Amino acid sequence: MPAERPWFHSAVVYQIYPRSFQDSDGDGIGDLRGVINRLDHLAALGVDVVWLSPIYRSPQDDNGYDISDYQDIDPTFGTLADFDELVAKAHERGIRIVMDLVVNHTSDEHPWFVESRSSKDNPKRDWYWWAPPREGFEAGQPGAEPTNWHSFFSGSTWQLDEATGEYYLHLFSRKQPDLNWENPQVREAVYAMMRWWLDRGVDGFRMDVINMISKELPLRDGEPIGDGPWGDGSPSYICGPRIHEFLQEMHREVFKGRGDALLTVGEMPAVTVEDAVLFTDPARHEVDMVFQFEHVGLDHGEHKWDRRPLQLVELKESLGRWQEGLAEVGWNSLYWNNHDQPRAVSRFGDDGEFRVESAKLLATVLHLHRGTPYVYQGEELGMTNVPFHDATAFQDIESVNYYKAATGQGLLVEEVLDALRLGSRDNARSPVQWDASPHAGFTTGVPWFPVHPNYPTVNAERALADPDSVFHHYRRLIELRHADAVVAEGDFTMLLPDDPVVYAFTRSLEGTTLLVVANFGGTDHKVDGLPDAEEWAGAELVLGSYPESAVAPTPTDGSIVLRPWEARVLRRTA
Ligand code: NOJ
Repeated sequence: MPAERPWFHSAVVYQIYPRSFQDSDGDGIGDLRGVINRLDHLAALGVDVVWLSPIYRSPQDDNGYDISDYQDIDPTFGTLADFDELVAKAHERGIRIVMDLVVNHTSDEHPWFVESRSSKDNPKRDWYWWAPPREGFEAGQPGAEPTNWHSFFSGSTWQLDEATGEYYLHLFSRKQPDLNWENPQVREAVYAMMRWWLDRGVDGFRMDVINMISKELPLRDGEPIGDGPWGDGSPSYICGPRIHEFLQEMHREVFKGRGDALLTVGEMPAVTVEDAVLFTDPARHEVDMVFQFEHVGLDHGEHKWDRRPLQLVELKESLGRWQEGLAEVGWNSLYWNNHDQPRAVSRFGDDGEFRVESAKLLATVLHLHRGTPYVYQGEELGMTNVPFHDATAFQDIESVNYYKAATGQGLLVEEVLDALRLGSRDNARSPVQWDASPHAGFTTGVPWFPVHPNYPTVNAERALADPDSVFHHYRRLIELRHADAVVAEGDFTMLLPDDPVVYAFTRSLEGTTLLVVANFGGTDHKVDGLPDAEEWAGAELVLGSYPESAVAPTPTDGSIVLRPWEARVLRRTA
């Protein structure tokens, strides 16, 4: 093992979605002072880094992922002075602050776009993607869109701008026009802005859909999706021809010479393991790690609104392949949750009888993989999906647009609602549950999004007071990663790949081996076929997901029997 390993190998990142984290001024929306007031919660958990979802000035069409000023804080969240105080107070506790960098697109209210749309010969016209109607079509006519691409937020990716009669590209909402990275002035402006934040003291960036910034030219139609009017444009914008060049240029212009203490993570939908090796090879100077989406797509059918149950064998095949693919070169990020994903305990665990057990199991399995784990706010409390009553309960633009599009196409309202209940990003966005007081201690006002009704039992105050809580389990896992090099650096070997219920693997480093064994089911389960089973049966228990006082089944044949949703980490030393 090389002597110097990057610090982030033994680090854990905590994601804050500021809107839903903690309100400090009673307007019902979380803010930076709220984050400052809760820093001790993060310090108690032991995380090393906080990634803040966007707090820049924004019309909030996509809750801040539509930025109208990259160098100011949205008044909803506070001021630059609040931000500086947050950075200083986080640093005092040894916690780094990583910003969300949203530069595939801006808001349509960003001055760059306001200028760009003002006339065809404006100097900033070429900062965005503009195109005339399709040949043979009048502007505004159905089918006149320059390509047939389907937007992530439903409908076309093209919006007609009446003033000049041309369309602009927006892969996301029509209020999120895509920047044209072919234009060197765009890239220079982005790099200057990034340097400004680093000079201000931030410790890196999580880069929003960064593998979409290079588009393949000319832009052209994609394969039709079903029998609808839209096509799949992704081959033209996922990991486009100049993506590596752009990221290397960004590295040179922004990060070079600033030392090794910063963190860069690229959010990369549809990225493959082979691509990820290139993106994260330290010798190539692109990013430290990527967020990939394969494992969170395994419960999708044809598309994200068509859900099917997760098959454990497929999960192991996928995560195991990523572990193997990045074993020699590059690095993995590890996550179950973020602000775009339904709550993992509801999705992959059991949020009823075994909520606590399955939340701890999911944490154990994830945190013992090789890579940098990410904890999304509330995950450490075992927060669950939201019980949505009807269509009016959804606020996220993706969900709202999908509801309109799907019911407009004649899908049954109840079917669409069921899909949204399982898949909506709003599941992750209900306020963090701090205590059993009104609105879970999130706000003294009216919360922008209702607090989950289970807050009287699922909340941070209770969790901190209970040594067997999900919170304390996360704290122990984080401590283990900090303390034990085998967790950070050990080799990964998947075991029992075909077992439909047991997730088992080892991590090994210099004579120490950890075995992680987990029962993804609600009944006692004997682990069959484990290599060296007898030795492991007597091995030291490093960490278990059941309270120590709960007596484990002790079979006489040397096998391991796991209780419902139980996970164990065992250690042997040669
Ligand atoms: C990915 C972000 O995580 C998501 O929340 C956002 O809607 C899109 N990118 C567009 O910025």
